[in-house]
Amino acid sequence: MCGIIGYCGPRQAADILIEGLKRLEYRGYDSAGIAVGNHEIKLEKRQGYVSLLRGKLEGNVGIGHTRWATHGAPDDRNSHPFTGCSGEFAIVHNGIMENYKELKQELLSRGHRFSSDTDSEVFVHILEEEYEKTGDFREAFFDSVSKLEGSFAILAIHRGEEKIMGIKKDSPLIVGKGNGENFAASDIPAFLPYTSEIAIMKDGEVCEIERSSIRFYDMRGTPVEKKFRFVDWSPDAAEKAGYEHFMLKEIFEQPMAIENTIHSLFSRDFQIGPYPKIDIIGCGTSYNAGMLGKYFIEKTLGIPVQVHYASEYRLRPPIRENPMSVFITQSGETADTIAAAKLARSRGCPTLAITNVIGSSITNSVEHVIHTSAGPEVGVAATKTFIAQVTALYYLGMSVGRSASMLSEKTYSGLMDGMRRLPRLIEAALESEQRISSVSRLLKDSNSIFYIGRGFNYPVSMEGALKMKEISYIHAEAYPAGELKHGPLALISGGTPVIAIVSRDETYDKMLSNIREVSARGATVIAISHEEEVDDYADYRIEVPEADDLFSPFANTVVVQLLAYHTARLRGCEIDKPRNLAKSVTVE
Ligand code: G6P
Repeated sequence: MCGIIGYCGPRQAADILIEGLKRLEYRGYDSAGIAVGNHEIKLEKRQGYVSLLRGKLEGNVGIGHTRWATHGAPDDRNSHPFTGCSGEFAIVHNGIMENYKELKQELLSRGHRFSSDTDSEVFVHILEEEYEKTGDFREAFFDSVSKLEGSFAILAIHRGEEKIMGIKKDSPLIVGKGNGENFAASDIPAFLPYTSEIAIMKDGEVCEIERSSIRFYDMRGTPVEKKFRFVDWSPDAAEKAGYEHFMLKEIFEQPMAIENTIHSLFSRDFQIGPYPKIDIIGCGTSYNAGMLGKYFIEKTLGIPVQVHYASEYRLRPPIRENPMSVFITQSGETADTIAAAKLARSRGCPTLAITNVIGSSITNSVEHVIHTSAGPEVGVAATKTFIAQVTALYYLGMSVGRSASMLSEKTYSGLMDGMRRLPRLIEAALESEQRISSVSRLLKDSNSIFYIGRGFNYPVSMEGALKMKEISYIHAEAYPAGELKHGPLALISGGTPVIAIVSRDETYDKMLSNIREVSARGATVIAISHEEEVDDYADYRIEVPEADDLFSPFANTVVVQLLAYHTARLRGCEIDKPRNLAKSVTVE
């Protein structure tokens, strides 16, 4: 998984490419590079962040890449772009070329010399060979892509031509139309300061981009008409807007993310279900959102819901019934989730995806799509997209319940009111930031942190522990509070931090007992609760606003996000780009 960008127009391409790549770094940041071409192709690439590129290359057409290593170490040699043997072409690639070994073998036997260990490099060598046959860049590009198997978004330039050729298959590619200048990139924010007029490419589509024209084709070369549309994201939406980190900005954007998601969902009439069973499938934070969805749907509708990690779901043999299968992926590009969706569909399950990215790959693999409207999320650790996913799952549950007459009108409208109050609830939870920041001092030097909760607060604990691991690198584990005494309690000793999420619901008394159990073993208990009584049990308490059982997880989520954020900040961690992680994982 990587980010790619291309520019063709009157400006210095290097400047546009580097600026755009910085906005794509969430897709990977092992290395970065650009190629700029007019009469000759000039190249700059190196291991590490985009900011290490100097960008002193002259030229008006170019391509760039930011890498998350899959094939070959994350070093200078394996950085994109690649220019092949002749230096006549440069290419960048996002995805996996599955048949690269055979292709490479053939190319080697014909005398090609490779400069990297990547799968991607084969493409530029194929392009060279195909060009020799016809002397036509466009034709050579079509002939070359027809040899590839796997997933790819590729951009290529040719020496002496002000033109970019691009192809999309199972990896995203978006084209931006400017005034006398045009763009292509893996994601919209990359070129948003220059244009908001975009066309999302579909699988198997090829683009040919020049300064003042953009043409689209299918893979056989037949022209395709594509509609451009305007996106209403301001360029600022993809910037930090004064916050120290994108993650913090995105945590504070959650009231708006919910507001926008609710607005777009409520304006759609879902006639969906009834379903006797529901499966929810996702990875990482999206899996945790699915867990909250399960608690909500089971509690309000009584429909059994199973939540699966996408990578494990794929190993599942066919089962007798075909449950409604809901795939959650903020990026819409997670390889395991897409493969799981294709599998479910091939088995005849009704499929629906919840994603934050319009036109992302998952949308081609399912029958129904719900878009969350959280806006672009740059921080690798998902926050506002999680809250928007949970909002969408709640609404999905309510819609199924309503259309199948499983919810009375009164219950339904009560739930709608609760949903409408969510932005305000989150704002109130955000007011505890100061307190959370000071409590994080207790956590910053910990080796291990435990999160406990029951019912709805168990998935919130899971998400809290995941956020803590991802960005602070502190080992953190979540347990249903009732499970503690069945093993993990052995790990509690003097000063072990335990974050206990306590709501005034059916689990309240049992949670207080669980706090007692860990306190008795010397744990330092930090409670997240609205209840003052909890002060008698816990060492510290973070106040959360009062909320109905079903909606309190939203407020509690904000607290665990901020707790992870401030702990990581005190530890001086790279919050927006945690080590070894990437925002969207397009490998299996
Ligand atoms: C990566 C990210 C996680 C994310 C997961 C699923 O591992 O680092 O933060 O939760 O992918 O991503 P998705 O786009 O499918 O929600």
